[in-house]
Amino acid sequence: GNHISPFEAIGGEKGITALVDTFYSYVSRHPDLSPIFPNDLTETARKQKQFLTQYLGGPSLYTEEHGHPMLRARHLPFPITPKRAKAWLACMERAMNDTGIHGPIRDFVFERLTLTANHMINTPDETG
Ligand code: HEM
Repeated sequence: GNHISPFEAIGGEKGITALVDTFYSYVSRHPDLSPIFPNDLTETARKQKQFLTQYLGGPSLYTEEHGHPMLRARHLPFPITPKRAKAWLACMERAMNDTGIHGPIRDFVFERLTLTANHMINTPDETG
């Protein structure tokens, strides 16, 4: 009908799985991101699939298992700089390209992710 969710528009569970797995393959190889992530990204990816499912209007998988996302608070243990936010978004953009997420839905989702990524910033870039 007129009201399919962004979750459905990007391919539902299959779409999220492909996107998140591709995204973390880029994160794991990114020189600014990999140092702050665990070596084994299995659990991180599992949580991110749950989170993005609900963020995009699918079932509330993240909250059912972990409670309120409190995303900014959960990121406070990690130094999220403006540079890392850009890097995160660049990995996501590549993952969207690779998994065939195009057009207006891609612009809509990427714009929301950009706002959320910027909201996670808790540390200035090094001025060195
Ligand atoms: C967890 C980094 C943005 C969603 C994490 C973790 C790191 C991280 C290091 C912990 C991984 C672990 O220990 O398993 C970053 C950086 C970002 C960023 C550098 C750049 C701005 C985002 C955004 C979202 C997001 C935009 C959502 C759209 C999550 C979720 C978790 C997580 C759901 C798992 C939380 C939990 O432990 O339950 N992130 N993140 N992150 N991140 Fe991010």
